[in-house]
Amino acid sequence: MKEKFEDASTLQNLWMPDQVSTIAPEVDSLFYFILYWVYFFLAIVVVGAIYFGWKYKSNERGTTQPLDHNNLLEITWTLFPLFLTMVVFFWGAKSYLKMNIVPYDAMEVNVKAQKWFFSFNYKEGFNSSELVVPVNRPVKLIMESQDVLHGFYVPDFRVKMDIIPNRYMVTWFEATKVGEYDILCTEYCGTAHSQMLAKVKVLNQEDYDKWLEKANVVDESIPLVELGEIIYNKNACNTCHSIDGSNMIGPSFKGIWNTTMEHTDGSKVLVDENYIYESIIEPQKKIIKGYEGVMPSYKGILRDREILGVVEYIKSLK
Ligand code: CUA
Repeated sequence: MKEKFEDASTLQNLWMPDQVSTIAPEVDSLFYFILYWVYFFLAIVVVGAIYFGWKYKSNERGTTQPLDHNNLLEITWTLFPLFLTMVVFFWGAKSYLKMNIVPYDAMEVNVKAQKWFFSFNYKEGFNSSELVVPVNRPVKLIMESQDVLHGFYVPDFRVKMDIIPNRYMVTWFEATKVGEYDILCTEYCGTAHSQMLAKVKVLNQEDYDKWLEKANVVDESIPLVELGEIIYNKNACNTCHSIDGSNMIGPSFKGIWNTTMEHTDGSKVLVDENYIYESIIEPQKKIIKGYEGVMPSYKGILRDREILGVVEYIKSLK
C-alpha cells in the first residue's frame, strides 16, 4: 500500500489505488466530479453559517426586514442543481452501460465463490486459485456462488459485482498494466469473510501463454509434501485450519494424523488417507465435535494428486 502512495503523482491517487483497467479513469472522473461539487456546496453552507453566526451574534443590529421571496435566487437554486444532477445521471448511465456490455472478443473465465474463497475455472480445463489474465485484453467473468451472497471486487480495476446464489453474475474488465492486484469479497458472508481474498495476476501475452501451458498439466515433479503445502496456502485451507495447533474455524492440521476424531454423531474415526479424502470431498459427512459444518466441498476443484499432496502434508505436520 505504501509504495502506491509514494508513486502517486496526482491528487486523484490520494484515496484510490492506481487506475489499472480501461474503465477506471471513467469511474474516477465521475467520482471526483461529484466529490468536488460536494466540497463546493459544503463550503458554501459552512462558510455561510459561520459568517451569519458572527454577523448576527448579538441583537444590536436589530431584526431583519420580513422576507417574502426572491425569484432570481429561487430559480437559480432550482435549475442549477437540476442541471448538475442531470449531468451526473447521463454521465453515470453512459459509464454504467460501458461497464455492463461485454465486448464480443472477451476471453471468458468462470468464477466460483464459496465460503471463504474464490476459484477460477479456465475453459482449457483446470482450476486456479488465482485469476491470471493477459494484459490489454477484455476478460469476461461468469460468476456463481456455491452458498451465500459474495462480492467480487478489484479496487485497482474499479470493478465490483455481487455474486448472488442460484444465478450467473457477469462482469468484465480489461487490465492495462502488468502486475498483481487484490481481489476482495465485499459482502459479509460469514465468519471468515474478511479473509476471503485472492489475487489477480496480469501478465503479458507471452507469459500468459506460458502460464496457461504449465497450469494445465499436473506437475509430477513437485514432491507430494510440497504440493500439499502449496495447495494448503493457495486453496484457502489456511483460512480455517492452522498448522501450529491453534484452533480456528476448523481443527488444526498439526498432529492430527493417526489420531482418533470424535464426531457430532458420536462416531470415532482414525485420521488416515481415506478420512482426509472424505473430509475434502464430502466435508459435511462427519463433523468433528466442537466445530460447525461450514467447510465447502473441494470436489472438482482439487485433482487426485493434489489431494494426495494434502494427505502427505498433514502427515508431515507432527
Ligand atoms: Cu465472501 Cu464475504
